[in-house]
Amino acid sequence: MLSKESANEIFLNQFSYTAEEYCFSPGRINLIGEHIDYNGGLVLPFAINKGILAVFKKNENKIIRIYSADFEDSLVIDLGKAIEFPVEVNWKTYILGMIEMMNSKGFYISGIDMIICSDLPLGSGLSSSAALECLIGYVFANEYYDKNRKELALDAQHVEHEYAKVKCGIMDQFAVANGKKEMGMLLDCNNLQSNYLPIELKNFTLLVINSNKPRALVDSKYNERRAECDKILALLDGFDPSKELANLNPLSLAYIEDDILYSRAKHILTENNRVKMASNALADGNIEALGQLLLASHQSLDEDYEVAGHELNTIVKYAMKVKECVGARMTGAGFGGCCIAIVEKNAIAKFKQYVSKKYQENTHYTCAIFEVEISDGVGFL
Ligand code: GLA
Repeated sequence: MLSKESANEIFLNQFSYTAEEYCFSPGRINLIGEHIDYNGGLVLPFAINKGILAVFKKNENKIIRIYSADFEDSLVIDLGKAIEFPVEVNWKTYILGMIEMMNSKGFYISGIDMIICSDLPLGSGLSSSAALECLIGYVFANEYYDKNRKELALDAQHVEHEYAKVKCGIMDQFAVANGKKEMGMLLDCNNLQSNYLPIELKNFTLLVINSNKPRALVDSKYNERRAECDKILALLDGFDPSKELANLNPLSLAYIEDDILYSRAKHILTENNRVKMASNALADGNIEALGQLLLASHQSLDEDYEVAGHELNTIVKYAMKVKECVGARMTGAGFGGCCIAIVEKNAIAKFKQYVSKKYQENTHYTCAIFEVEISDGVGFL
């Protein structure tokens, strides 16, 4: 996590006084259950100790001043005037969207001086936008959202749909709002019921491998996949009573004639099953079995859902050549972003060296490999 001291310094530089209130909003990693949330199935994400740190001081000036250290740019909002959104979606869109959302709910919004800084690698698919949305909601309406974290997640998701125009599922915002130290969340996206599940990897550790491939087109490709899923449901209307793809009767797949749509549906059904098996493997402490499920998830995302691509495949291919690695997969939406791997603790250095070298030789990019801790959701420090 970023240090309070360096954040304080940024605040002092911007506003010429000091503030002593802090909020941290984490990024997330999804252990397994990809492209399942918007299909009403099971996912297993957790919040991580990398995220966005804010230092702030509220006031009665009716002016919001927020400085982003990452973008070296400021946002000033006069609460007496109508909110104006940037033409192209950027970091300000999420903040403005969240403020408009809270306004529409009748929440009191105060003036504020705030700086934000992040140690989430930008555009890496670790949910920096969900972290930002939840941070803003939590800072401005702490008393309400602290007790209504599910609603915070839903409101943040609404902002993503309405203002960023990405029809994301609920997983990212839910994980950021509800994360718990050392726990994964087995979340049923059909009814938003969730159970915390200890993630104990024994003599293994979870490594994150950032492909550093810019996630170009990710939003349009993502919306394309969602549209395909809607098509499948429309197609099966009358054959299968399920309103959610993840809960289709597997026999219904026989009615899908289109090869691409068939593969998409197959991924959803098999992935949903893998999440159930992964939670059992975790409960049994069977890390090898968990690793195999991660790998099967990646293969399905690559072959059936077609969201992996050369870079993420290269990482998984070479990760699996390290004999101390029991499983690896892409995490998040795909088309670039990050992979995760479960690796024996005593082989971390070897894994890093080998996978980095092979990745550089086989792609145009250099990857970054790091460990993360499973942490609490958004909160004041
Ligand atoms: C993105 C979305 C999530 C989820 C994942 C894929 O992170 O924001 O809602 O759909 O992709 O599992």
